[in-house]
Amino acid sequence: MKTSRISGFYKLTPKERLKMVAEFADLSDDEVELIRKTAKIPLEVADGMIENVIGTFELPLGIATNFLIDGKDYLIPMVIEEPSVVAAASNGARIARVKGGFTTHYTGSIMIGQIQVITENPHSAKFEVLRHKDEIIAKANEIESSIIKLGGGCKDLNVRIVEGRKPMLIVDLLIDVKDAMGANFVNSVCEHVAPFIAKITGGRVLLRILSNLCIYRLAMAKAIFDKKAVGGEEVVEAIIDAYEFAKADVFRCATHNKGIMNGVCAVLIATGNDFRAVEAGAHAYSAMRGYKPLTHYEINEDGDLVGYIELPVSVGTVGGSIKANPLARICLKILGVKTAEELARVIAAVGLAQNFAALRALATEGIQRGHMELHARSLALSVGAKGEEVDKVVEIMIKEGKISMSRAKEILEELRAKT
Ligand code: MEV
Repeated sequence: MKTSRISGFYKLTPKERLKMVAEFADLSDDEVELIRKTAKIPLEVADGMIENVIGTFELPLGIATNFLIDGKDYLIPMVIEEPSVVAAASNGARIARVKGGFTTHYTGSIMIGQIQVITENPHSAKFEVLRHKDEIIAKANEIESSIIKLGGGCKDLNVRIVEGRKPMLIVDLLIDVKDAMGANFVNSVCEHVAPFIAKITGGRVLLRILSNLCIYRLAMAKAIFDKKAVGGEEVVEAIIDAYEFAKADVFRCATHNKGIMNGVCAVLIATGNDFRAVEAGAHAYSAMRGYKPLTHYEINEDGDLVGYIELPVSVGTVGGSIKANPLARICLKILGVKTAEELARVIAAVGLAQNFAALRALATEGIQRGHMELHARSLALSVGAKGEEVDKVVEIMIKEGKISMSRAKEILEELRAKT
């Protein structure tokens, strides 16, 4: 049985780590080579993805370990520039697995497509849209798409009258996008049905676009963080107090949610997904309740900390940008997810692990120690320390509490003079 519980993964070299990940995910030699090579996206492919391409741009790809989600072990690829995020996620997952890991829930792949109808008579427009509901849905599902063939497409619609400079009727199409992120499909459906809606309402149809606030596409996760593994009753209480701070104060809540998105976005980028879409949806969802934390914590009868997360997650495992990006495809293979649903569930678990680990660090020793260690390591490397020298330079700088390029250089010179 393969396990993601890998102790000391961080102590290995990148080459050794890649070998372990390749074994875990059954990567071919070519796939391993592609991860090693620098130009991951061929220039001609990149040139077809966006406009005015001059090259590709890289970020570190790390692996968060220890994730047990719905009884399955996952190694989580994360693309991010910020130190400590991958370590924190692995740490949170390690503690969660003491009591069985994460359990998740997904509400389905329903996206909202919005059609804005500007009309002098919104009540009549509302009546006509509802009266023609079945025809609108049938029309929406006329478009040529593999999503429709797989059983997706428009399933229902809602209407709302919204006050603006002029009255507006907003038609929200509820569209099942299956394993796609769905933006292209939803936008095409909206554009396709818009003339019919204009005809039956007599109004002027303006915008036809998806909403990133996909409240029917929620991913949720829960974990029980064992009291002892968390650090005892006092730490559990401190984490609850830290959470209460975010609940009560919007300034803290922004940072609390940002920490969640550190993990969420890192997985989105690694898997070729639109991280801005999920970011926008998450914050808007939080704002629906007055901008509140995306996580919730309580203490159970055993004194353990129970954490929950709930956020909209519009992700795909198929679609243009994923298909075009070979690295995203390999990251999906490392994750071992087959569907958008499974990916969304994993992302929720990562968000919860990330938030728990951040709160635990903040409520105890603070997060600077971990950050400083990585910072010290990168300084040691940049002044030319090699192998064991790196650890020694880092250790001395941390001990002295003096972390700078000049001090790293001095320590390295002193070490070399001694040997
Ligand atoms: C840093 O990127 C994220 C944290 O600030 C999150 C938090 O404060 O909860 C550590």
